Amino acid sequence: MKLKKTLATLCIASGLVSSISGQDNTLILNADQGNQTISKHIYGHFSEHLGHCIYGGFWVGEDSPIPNTRGIRNDVVKALKDIQIPNLRWPGGCFADEYHWRDGIGPRSERPKMVNTHWGGVVEDNAFGTHEFMDLCEQLECEPYICGNVGSGSVEEMSKWVEYLTFDGESPMSNLRRKNGRERPWKVKFWGVGNENWGCGGNMTADFYTDQYRRYATYCRNYGDNRLYKIAGGANSDDYYWTETLMKKIGRQMQGLSLHYYTVPRSWNQKGSATQFDKEEYLTTIEKAHFMGELVQKHATIMDKYDPEKKISLIPDEWGTWYDVEPGTNPGFLYQQNTLRDAIVAGVTLNIFNNHCDRVHMANIAQTINVLQAVILTQEDKMVLTPTYWVYYLYKVHQEATMIPLHFTGNTIEHRGIKMNAISASASKSADGKIHITLVNIDPDNSQSLKTVLNGIKAKKITGKLLSSAKINDHNTFDAPETVKLKDFKDAKIVDGNLSVNLPSKSVVLLEIEL
Ligand code: AHR
Repeated sequence: MKLKKTLATLCIASGLVSSISGQDNTLILNADQGNQTISKHIYGHFSEHLGHCIYGGFWVGEDSPIPNTRGIRNDVVKALKDIQIPNLRWPGGCFADEYHWRDGIGPRSERPKMVNTHWGGVVEDNAFGTHEFMDLCEQLECEPYICGNVGSGSVEEMSKWVEYLTFDGESPMSNLRRKNGRERPWKVKFWGVGNENWGCGGNMTADFYTDQYRRYATYCRNYGDNRLYKIAGGANSDDYYWTETLMKKIGRQMQGLSLHYYTVPRSWNQKGSATQFDKEEYLTTIEKAHFMGELVQKHATIMDKYDPEKKISLIPDEWGTWYDVEPGTNPGFLYQQNTLRDAIVAGVTLNIFNNHCDRVHMANIAQTINVLQAVILTQEDKMVLTPTYWVYYLYKVHQEATMIPLHFTGNTIEHRGIKMNAISASASKSADGKIHITLVNIDPDNSQSLKTVLNGIKAKKITGKLLSSAKINDHNTFDAPETVKLKDFKDAKIVDGNLSVNLPSKSVVLLEIEL
């Protein structure tokens, strides 16, 4: 205890961390009270035609020496199935609002080329289009989430895309699909009506977008038993006016409302390095990641006013860290490394989503491969799983489980005047009766001991997994792919049916409790 206090005082003196030490950390779980399901779609991903996310990431082409199935990398499919990827958003992002889907169907050799103006000005040859994306989703056994073009596309274009994908009868679009090799229609549920329409998706005002939304959404038809779940292009971070306007004007015409928020340690001009950062910058990053909690709460409160039954989902379909690109790489490709810091951001953010699963039914980290906070990095035939990947691996137990309400009291870390709990947590009960708790100790220096009170149940057996590493900027590379990896966690024991846990500094831990 004395040592802890001294450490805290030193930290305060250096102006880095003001850690209120000496308190008991207590987590109370009302294990007999949960009634909300954590949707598996909170664990969704996002793949844009950007840098090497699609090309080189998912897609290598049928003639590639890299093992593939109809052009799609086998190693990537396996890795994503291992984390139970529930849905994949495509084709953007900003790219979605300049994508014309008819350029990406038919024989590849005849597909027109275009300039990817948003992302590096490179040539997009449309080799990866609708059929390839739907094949990818089938291989991943996940739901497609397609984002339509409102910014530069027409109502007719979007309407025909839905018809091409989902109509079973006789029509120009369904016949075209058959001609291109797909007899049966696909099932498509998640449908984005534009992306960032306040910015790259057309620079619209909220009022103008709502009028556009009505037109586009009207002609996105439900064919046969396919039911679209229409997602309106939501707010940029804390633009609460955008949410208020959309809820007021088109609340009846949407099932989901998106939200975009990125964790940028410094500023948009100079974001900071993905791997070279000090403790100060680490804490700023974590503090900014915590802002997602405030965003979800405030946007949800506005939504409650118009949708008290919480039918409309708040969907943070772009979130994650955004740093300067790796030195020597194309600035338009947004390629960044991924360290233990990113795993902490992911753990904290996913805990926030789990704890708000009454309103957040879906989310998508940006982006799956080689772009921003990627879970996978590829280089030719090599593949690396990032620390963020391992968080998704740990947290998959929460998918479709019943959220357990919890309350934490204890140590806080104060940074730039903002207090954060030293430990972030969420918990759920799965169908087989097991309880899972995911814990993040954000403290870069100190381990945290935690007493967990399990109301209504008695733990009989506990096992755990730990993600941590010696340094907060440790990461996995193509030469050293296992620097940050999962280990068994032994520092939790059952005391009178409750738990006593010792969390190492800068760690993400999964506990599994059997009753
Ligand atoms: O994820 C990268 C970009 O960030 C997306 O294309 C855009 O929607 C957002 O601004």
